[in-house]
Amino acid sequence: MSHFNYREDGLYAENVPLANIARQFGTPTYVYSRASLTENFLAYADACRAHGRGEQGALVCYSVKSNSNLAVLNLLGKLGSGFDIVSGGELLRVIAAGGDTGKVIFSGVGKSREEMRLALSHNIRCFNVESIPELHRLNEVAASMHKVARVSLRVNPDVDAKTHPYISTGLKDNKFGIAFEDALNTYRVAASLPHLEVTGIDCHIGSQLLDDAPLLEALDKVIELADQLHAEGIDLHHLDIGGGIGITYDQEQPVAVADYLSRLFARIDRWRKEKYQGRQISVMFEPGRSIVGNAGVLLTEVQYLKHGATKNFAVVDAAMNDLMRPAMYEAWHGVQALQRRDAEAKTYDVVGPVCESGDWLARDRKLALEADDLLAIMSAGAYGMTMASNYNTRGRAAEVLVDGDSVTLIRQRENPADLFALESIPS
Ligand code: LLP
Repeated sequence: MSHFNYREDGLYAENVPLANIARQFGTPTYVYSRASLTENFLAYADACRAHGRGEQGALVCYSVKSNSNLAVLNLLGKLGSGFDIVSGGELLRVIAAGGDTGKVIFSGVGKSREEMRLALSHNIRCFNVESIPELHRLNEVAASMHKVARVSLRVNPDVDAKTHPYISTGLKDNKFGIAFEDALNTYRVAASLPHLEVTGIDCHIGSQLLDDAPLLEALDKVIELADQLHAEGIDLHHLDIGGGIGITYDQEQPVAVADYLSRLFARIDRWRKEKYQGRQISVMFEPGRSIVGNAGVLLTEVQYLKHGATKNFAVVDAAMNDLMRPAMYEAWHGVQALQRRDAEAKTYDVVGPVCESGDWLARDRKLALEADDLLAIMSAGAYGMTMASNYNTRGRAAEVLVDGDSVTLIRQRENPADLFALESIPS
């Protein structure tokens, strides 16, 4: 259910008119709905519970990269979420937000020694390792700290996720994971290293998947490998199936999380019953977009309406540095006027002030607009603020969390002077 809805006097986030937020905090501003975040997280957690899997049997590790604001992490942590991180910085965020480091898994192809040390010192649940050199490095770092690192190998099941090429990660020519045919050998190496404990297997084939068929195909391949490992005496304690289901930006109809998890658990349970006397294996998920994507919008104000030779432009005060997705993936985001006008709608490209032709947020949209109107760029909660930059020395947007009638500023707008505060001029 969406918590961004029109009432008579305009578009609301829960019980708060978005126009009031724009007035109070200025624009561009990201606005998140606590109710949406909660519901979206519980879609995973409740489905796990419905299949008899408590915290031991399943762990939802929210993918911090999709939205890493401390308030978001704190809320999800309180709901019982673990965290999928890809940098030492993200681990420090989880800690600052009060998250449980015992529920942290560390993904990513390029972990530095320093990041490994930090994660080991906080006793994270597991490292998702992506290569043999990384295994050796982790073993060395763990040895130097007199520790044993729990590892899971990210295998590349060579399954086509049928999503945008930039966010597809499970094919042979992607930089991610260990090639399926090398996996067995890599596990042998991992098992031979004294400061590593092999605990799981992991795969992630891509993001914004609408159908669960590729995910279940990847699961089958992971199961096949787990059996081969069992035959070699390597028993896994968990299976990590990667990111979550895609979301509706426009007309997409993603499979329901509950249906996907139902099919997934049915396969896993059948496999365990047939081969392992019903002995459970814990399952982990790393969803990001499906938890935060539709829980957030980006508020922006129209600066100018510009009527070009072939196109009409609505120049707004948000730009590609605030929301990269359109420029980077030609991603489609809905645009809703906070106040609906009766005037005649025209077709506009909604563009930002940044000096790049690629700086657009939406193209060819029918909108009835006047200068100073406020707009909401929809479905902006995931990979919005986390991918924002300071290009053109633009301070990053403010972030606000709405909970019923209450509004909390959860990140101040960046001040331009802060943007060059770390710089210096040689004397
Ligand atoms: N786990 C791993 C290892 C990942 O690489 C990702 C996303 C996730 C989990 C979370 O996937 P999700 O549940 O959000 O689909 N910036 C792009 C998306 C990049 C996704 C990268 N990996 C976008 O804006 O569409």
